[in-house]
Amino acid sequence: MTFEEARAQFPVLERLAYLNAGSMGPLARATGEAMAEQVRSDVDAGRAGSAYFERMLELRGSVRERLAGFLSVAPERMALTSSTTDGCNIVLGGLELGPEDEIVTTDGEHPGLLGPIAVSGARIVVAPVTTRPAGEAVDVIRAAITPRTRLVAISHVVWTTGQVIPVDEVKEATGLPVLVDGAQSVGAIQVEAGAVDFYTVSCQKWLCGPDPLGGLYVADPEGLRLASPTYFSQQSMEVDGSFVPKDGAQRFDAGWLAVPSLAGLVAALDFAPEWRFKRAREVAGRCRDRLAEAGFEVRTEPGQAGLVTFESRNGEPDAAAAKAVEAGVVIRALPKTPWIRASCGYWTSDEDLDRLVAALS
Ligand SMILES: Cc1ncc(COP(=O)(O)O)c(C=O)c1O
Repeated sequence: MTFEEARAQFPVLERLAYLNAGSMGPLARATGEAMAEQVRSDVDAGRAGSAYFERMLELRGSVRERLAGFLSVAPERMALTSSTTDGCNIVLGGLELGPEDEIVTTDGEHPGLLGPIAVSGARIVVAPVTTRPAGEAVDVIRAAITPRTRLVAISHVVWTTGQVIPVDEVKEATGLPVLVDGAQSVGAIQVEAGAVDFYTVSCQKWLCGPDPLGGLYVADPEGLRLASPTYFSQQSMEVDGSFVPKDGAQRFDAGWLAVPSLAGLVAALDFAPEWRFKRAREVAGRCRDRLAEAGFEVRTEPGQAGLVTFESRNGEPDAAAAKAVEAGVVIRALPKTPWIRASCGYWTSDEDLDRLVAALS
């Protein structure tokens, strides 16, 4: 598949310089068609009967397999969730931490991870990675570890600065359980999750899937308490509610997930071209260079992932981002910062970058 063929699959790109995958990725035509077909079938044939149920289970299995493939892990260790937030709650709820325990996180985390950490009962220790060069992240995190640390909970790609944290090195350097928020990494960069303990997926961003769907890799599913069981967690259940959990990570599966979304996600995951990571890295680099040449203070260091964050020139990032959106360039301001964020994926063209610079000038 060529770049032009891949790009032509995303109707929104015909009109907009859509630099928004850090929030919601573009939807391919095939994804929309798979969803529409499922909706049509649901409307015409009803949502009932064993064929419908089998279809739903088959779609869940297909998504699990594909997400596991994206993370290079076994499907038995992959749970289906509705989001990264859902995955973080499953892990933090299952670890049963108390006030004597500490969680080390960073100063660049999203509420999707921070909320579950905040209600975990543990003491939170924040490592200041965003004010330091990306190459120092491992040392900064290691310096925050104490004998009480029970978990390191960090993003693979920081949603504000765009920096990549080498999560495998963090695991190696600390030897502690590591929970990785993969919302900004899976689909944007090559991920091999097998070295860490927990790794979340958001399907609506860089995987260009429908919302709301996600995944959670759990290295040792039997070793994590099942804190929020669903209908899909159980092999069997007694009338008093006691149950035998399913083997592997399926025990952490979300309840009913929208069948049209599952159908759309299978199509989205099957579509992703092989050269996607290389091209995404190159175009993000060009975006960085173009903004710097145009005189913007670029916050994201070279050689990171798909996010490129830069300072608004007039100190009003909300107004600047809104003006760009009006001009057909979809970018966003980052809350409580002077920064604007552009998301570059494999589908991003050099013309999109021209439009970005023009809209900001
Ligand atoms: C780093 C990070 N974590 C978590 C989230 C929340 O993702 P989800 O909606 O899948 O819970 C986001 C969304 O922007 C994010 O950027």
